[in-house]
Amino acid sequence: MPRPKSSPLDVSIEGRRVLALGAGLGAFSQGPLAGAVLEPGSATQLESLSPGAYDLVLIDADAWDAPALAAAVKALSSMRHAPPLLMLGENLPAGLVRNVLRLEAADILEAPFTPEQLSTAMLALLAEAQPTVAPTSSGGESRCWGVTGAVGGAGATTIAIEVASVLAAQSGKDRAVCLIDLNLADGAMAAYLGCTPTTRLADFGQAADRIDASMMHALVTPVSKGLDLIASVRDATAFDTVGRDAVLRMLEVACECYEWVILDIPRHRRPWTLDALSGCDEVMVISELTVPALLAARAYSDEIEDGLGTGLRPRIVLNRLASRMFGPAPSMTEAEKALQRKAEAGISSDWEAAAASANLGGPISQHRPKSKIVKDVQTLVERLASQPARRDPAKAA
Ligand SMILES: Nc1ncnc2c1ncn2[C@@H]1O[C@H](COP(=O)(O)OP(=O)(O)OP(=O)(O)O)[C@@H](O)[C@H]1O
Ligand SMILES: [Mg+2]
Repeated sequence: MPRPKSSPLDVSIEGRRVLALGAGLGAFSQGPLAGAVLEPGSATQLESLSPGAYDLVLIDADAWDAPALAAAVKALSSMRHAPPLLMLGENLPAGLVRNVLRLEAADILEAPFTPEQLSTAMLALLAEAQPTVAPTSSGGESRCWGVTGAVGGAGATTIAIEVASVLAAQSGKDRAVCLIDLNLADGAMAAYLGCTPTTRLADFGQAADRIDASMMHALVTPVSKGLDLIASVRDATAFDTVGRDAVLRMLEVACECYEWVILDIPRHRRPWTLDALSGCDEVMVISELTVPALLAARAYSDEIEDGLGTGLRPRIVLNRLASRMFGPAPSMTEAEKALQRKAEAGISSDWEAAAASANLGGPISQHRPKSKIVKDVQTLVERLASQPARRDPAKAA
């Protein structure tokens, strides 16, 4: 996928995290690397590098033997979103040079070189790796919608995916929509979309401010032209190990980079839940048409409304509406009575389309575009999108 590139003139070494392999490289900290955060490292360290941990890897090839260099280049080539590599050295073997130049962002600087040449080569690589996701030109005008289920299995993930996919198709722009699965421990969104989750927010520890537009590429998985996904690698401890700051910083940066941000929010409250909800200009609570689900939807919506205290009222969406019910089920009117509020929308039931798409990997709008689910979600999206963003809900409503 072509990425927007920056000019080397736009980038600076200031504050960049540089992993330096080779004791002699420390000498450059007074010259071309002045202002960078220089960390000495070893070739084996590259095998377990977390995405986004470094902005640049510098290797002094003369300081390592051939097997160590080959292992280092192999580790970078097998890594998704590897940092750019600059290899320095004299009489480098042709095979090594070829493998280095095969990396997505890499260069060779033959010794002897001047400090200016080193500086130019580093800045060119940093520019090449510069934002793969450019902040939206509209700045701050992004819209963020949260989707959450009143009960388990109500269809929140399915509806979040369909909403995002409709918005991406309507926008027609590249990377218009970012879908974020906030089920950090065992989110299913990537599996529904047939992608591999890649995000490891726990790696940011206490350094949430390291998340910025230039490293969004290390967090996202492209789904289609207009749609990117942020979904976490399965990790049973994630809700304990991922800091609130990292979650909120990721959301903030996503809103800077995308026109639309759609969140799949787990219904059990986390330390960041209310903050995430308060950044949404619409919140959809997905319910089924059963009495327990409706009662839960009502209680959950009240909890969100009270918790936010901003006047934002979640929209209740009734999912899996069947034209012919099996057994006694509430009608829409009875449902609204139980909810003590109007439902925003209903989404038809279509098990075949939902199951087929999940099995094939991808939105229902892609695999079963004629499904009633797609039509109903389009209606819902058109209605919500045509209303002004309730970013400051106290003034809306
Ligand atoms: N409108 C629909 N018609 C038919 N099946 C649907 C519909 N919406 C969702 N499903 C199916 O219902 C099941 C649960 O959906 P989904 O995983 O989206 O729910 P969820 O609320 O995200 O669940 P969880 O609580 O586990 O996060 C899935 O098998 C999905 O394919
Ligand atoms: Mg889900």
